[in-house]
Amino acid sequence: MPSHGGAALYSKVGHMKFRGLLVAAVAVFGLALMMDSTIQGNDKKEDKKDPVSIKVVMQKAMKGGLCGKVASGKASEAERKQLASLFADLAANKCPKGEADDWKTRTEALAKASAALAKEDNADNRAALKKAADCKGCHSTHK
Ligand code: HEC
Repeated sequence: MPSHGGAALYSKVGHMKFRGLLVAAVAVFGLALMMDSTIQGNDKKEDKKDPVSIKVVMQKAMKGGLCGKVASGKASEAERKQLASLFADLAANKCPKGEADDWKTRTEALAKASAALAKEDNADNRAALKKAADCKGCHSTHK
């Protein structure tokens, strides 16, 4: 659809322009539908992949000592990344018991601190992880 500017031309090709607009609108709508189905497709994929369970995260990250190692600054980059991945999954788990908002706050703090540490191992990030890894605080309400 060639596009001509100018007011004089407008009245002559006005209806053509309208058709052009209609075609464009349909095209945009089609594109939006396509994108929408792509996004939905991704959602479905993610739904199928369940996050690592809370129990397994506890065994690997907490009981296993990975979290403590990362918090003390003795972990390798690979270990810091593994912890970030475990805590991202922990935060993706539904609140098992107690206040859902509190669960979200606690697990997101762990996910955020460990993700920051995966990128940069510094004292601030380690302090944030230590603060978030409040075993008793979380167990007393959510376990
Ligand atoms: C954000 C909340 C939260 C934090 C923080 C947390 N836990 Fe847990 N933990 C849980 C929940 C919930 C369970 C129960 C999981 C289940 O049985 O499905 C659990 C279970 C456990 C278990 C039992 C796992 C099993 O094999 O059944 C151990 C061990 C454990 N936690 C250790 C720790 C230690 C050590 C820390 C601190 C360094 C810690 N947790 C911090 C939420 C948390």
